[in-house]
Amino acid sequence: MYAFPTDAYTQVAAEAYSAPKMAGKIPQHFIDDMLAKVDIVDVIDQRVSLKKSGNNYSACCPFHNEKTPSFTVSQTKQFYHCFGCSANGSAISFLMEYEGMHFVDAIESLADSVGMEVPRDAQAAQVRNDSKPLYTLMESIAAYYTSQLRHSPEAIEYLKARGLSGETAKRFSIGYVPDGWDGLQKHFPTEEAAMVKTGMLIQGDGGKRPYQRFRNRIMFPIRDKRGRVIAFGGRVMDQQEPKYLNSPETPLFHKGQELYGLYEARKSGQDAGMIIVVEGYMDVVALAQHGIDNAVATLGTAANQQHSEMLFRTVTNIVFCFDGDRAGRAAAWRALTATLPCLQDGRDAHFLFLPDGEDPDSVVKVGGAAGFNDLLAQRIPIVDYLYQYLSSDIDISSIGGKAQLAEKAKPLLATIPKGIYKQLSLRRLETLIGLSLGSDSAAVKAQAQPPRRKQGDTGLTAMSRAVLLCLQNPELVQTIPPDDYDINPDMPGADVLLKLIAYCDSTPDITTARLLERFREGQSYSYLVKLASKSYYPDDRELDLDSATAEFKHCIARLRERSQQTLADKVAPAARTGLLGLKRR
Ligand code: GTP
Ligand code: MN
Repeated sequence: MYAFPTDAYTQVAAEAYSAPKMAGKIPQHFIDDMLAKVDIVDVIDQRVSLKKSGNNYSACCPFHNEKTPSFTVSQTKQFYHCFGCSANGSAISFLMEYEGMHFVDAIESLADSVGMEVPRDAQAAQVRNDSKPLYTLMESIAAYYTSQLRHSPEAIEYLKARGLSGETAKRFSIGYVPDGWDGLQKHFPTEEAAMVKTGMLIQGDGGKRPYQRFRNRIMFPIRDKRGRVIAFGGRVMDQQEPKYLNSPETPLFHKGQELYGLYEARKSGQDAGMIIVVEGYMDVVALAQHGIDNAVATLGTAANQQHSEMLFRTVTNIVFCFDGDRAGRAAAWRALTATLPCLQDGRDAHFLFLPDGEDPDSVVKVGGAAGFNDLLAQRIPIVDYLYQYLSSDIDISSIGGKAQLAEKAKPLLATIPKGIYKQLSLRRLETLIGLSLGSDSAAVKAQAQPPRRKQGDTGLTAMSRAVLLCLQNPELVQTIPPDDYDINPDMPGADVLLKLIAYCDSTPDITTARLLERFREGQSYSYLVKLASKSYYPDDRELDLDSATAEFKHCIARLRERSQQTLADKVAPAARTGLLGLKRR
């Protein structure tokens, strides 16, 4: 009988009981205690009026436009979830999303509401006292750059030559940074360290003084969606390289999560019901110059799922606008695959390909807003582009080609959330290949799952099912004796499951929200948040507590079985060498 190398369960449990972990420098135990006192129903009801419906509360979702309520709040789980736009999370997440608060501010506000005081250890104090001035400093730097623009005839001339009015420059707070290594240091003499931290200065080697990252460039402040300056992009005014220089990743700036111009575009995007995603800073600015105020740009990265999610929180329609060249089509394909999973009913996305060699800036420069709008009218629906792209090197008039197209399309269609949109997309494929694939999306769903794994009828692995059940019904953990949780901690996902089990076991009455908060800093957080509001069965059938218990026991049993199996696989080769060794002797 093979013994486990370590007792996984007790090891993880010990970790859970050990000294308080820091989350965002606020002790984890404090967050946990606070969430035990806060009632998410109160927190949300103060901002969005909730109605009791069954065991839960509901309202029209504050994060997307809707007429019938699909936003629900569970008091037992202390968790909210919108079936329409998938927004979900704890009271902390709600404040962060709804009020645009930062994590620490959300905690502070909640703590306040239940009469608790956030403990201020040295580190916490530092982070707070640090990051507020960092934003203020960045704002001051932006103001400094705009004031420098007024003193640079060359920079003014450059912007004029590109067709920008003073008004547009002001709308985007466009500025200018003079040449030289120490303009910023001279202007903000006490802020050297902070400017290194925000990437505005580069620390020289071997104790040399830091120097300016940006020199002699047109400066575009990058704002987060609350309007705070978090980074800059700088353009040269001649043919030098690099043409654009962006701030590096800093505590304030993660370029994959931000969109240039979103703060400015939000309002008119909502009015137009649509936001246009373009490739360059100057495209955003030039479109705005011509009255097209609802454009944003990625920051030199491909559009990712976070970008699409962020945009769908503001508008129901996204139009991705790309160059018609090969690079443009590749970028478009990445945007397409990133956006399919966000296409809940009510949302839509289109693609617009510009003539070769053109960008939105050049289009409006020649044809004005009308010229751009003419092209915009020719945008193609995301699913049409999907089929167009996939069939570009397939002859779909042949039987083999049709089959090939269907094979290629199925896994992509499977990433579209269940709903009318998905069904219609499938219908379109059927029309294209002239064959019914079965009108429910079952075929598409089956295709999406990686082969090999057996997943029952939930579409989830036993590990994910166990995690889901544990998160949604923490009390289940007590129904199994601790010794029975001896699953191999090296299996994918086992570390998270074992932690969850340990947390549930050590804290009676723990809620879904409190469990989730313990993972906020970790890699698995976004996955856990998804599982926390996912229905166990794909058809949304309810799972009562008895069946949940049975399912949970079943999952754990399967995982134990598999643990034994993987361990046996590992041991087997070693045993064989042992045998050979014996023979030799
Ligand atoms: P211009 O019209 O020439 O000012 O630029 P653009 O806005 O049309 O940008 P372009 O299409 O050349 O590039 C699109 C985006 O890619 C830019 O807005 C930048 O974010 C990024 N980019 C372009 N060139 C560079 C570069 O040299 N370095 C970096 N880091 N990013 C760049
Ligand atoms: Mn351009």
